[in-house]
Amino acid sequence: MSTSSHIEQTIVFVKETLKGAEGGHDWFHIERVFKNSLLLAKDEKVDTLVVGLAALLHDIADPKFHNGDETIGPRTARKFLETLSIDQKTVDHIVLVIENISFKSSLGNKPSFFSHELAVVQDADRLDAIGAIGVARAFNYGGFKNRGMYDPEIAPNLNMSKEEYKNSQAPTINHFYEKLLLLKDKMNTETGKRIAEKRHQFMRDFLEQFYNEWNGKI
Ligand code: ADP
Ligand code: NI
Repeated sequence: MSTSSHIEQTIVFVKETLKGAEGGHDWFHIERVFKNSLLLAKDEKVDTLVVGLAALLHDIADPKFHNGDETIGPRTARKFLETLSIDQKTVDHIVLVIENISFKSSLGNKPSFFSHELAVVQDADRLDAIGAIGVARAFNYGGFKNRGMYDPEIAPNLNMSKEEYKNSQAPTINHFYEKLLLLKDKMNTETGKRIAEKRHQFMRDFLEQFYNEWNGKI
């Protein structure tokens, strides 16, 4: 089977599986990450089948929506990949990328795995969390979790455990300081860094305008 047919079959599977997903984690998020991954891949020496399939399958089952089960995504991806006729080494590599992509695993002290394919897909996923789309996704997710937009009395907390963070009712603006504004310095690829710089500035401008409007200024 050809690479393009593997990609097409995966697109069908992902679209079907993500039907009804929350707006920040839906098929369109996957499509943006897939396109950005291929864009970044042009400047890197990578296996584009691994990049493409890992991008498509990276959020196939998010632990946030499965009682925190971190293994469900990689397991679902592997099960699907084994229905395609690709060699075991490639399947293993794609699953490793998916296991290691999340921001939280990169916050841990011991990154257990690295590859240029992981670098590309991780950057593409991070790019979709910042800039205008990043702002929209954050408020969408905050609304989904019934969180307020902003409360001047609740300061951002950079020292929350994963569990505390998941259950936190902190307003969405805090998420910018706890995660989104930190992403530009975590980019792996040169192209990713350049794009992130621009999107980072957009978020800074957004926050400035937000506080102006909040405080009755134009
Ligand atoms: P992804 O699955 O794409 O790697 P996450 O699952 O961490 O990213 O988050 C998905 C989207 O939801 C991101 O845009 C992120 O900023 C947003 N999000 C995650 N946690 C919060 C939060 N506590 N408050 C607001 N937005 C959040
Ligand atoms: Ni994602």
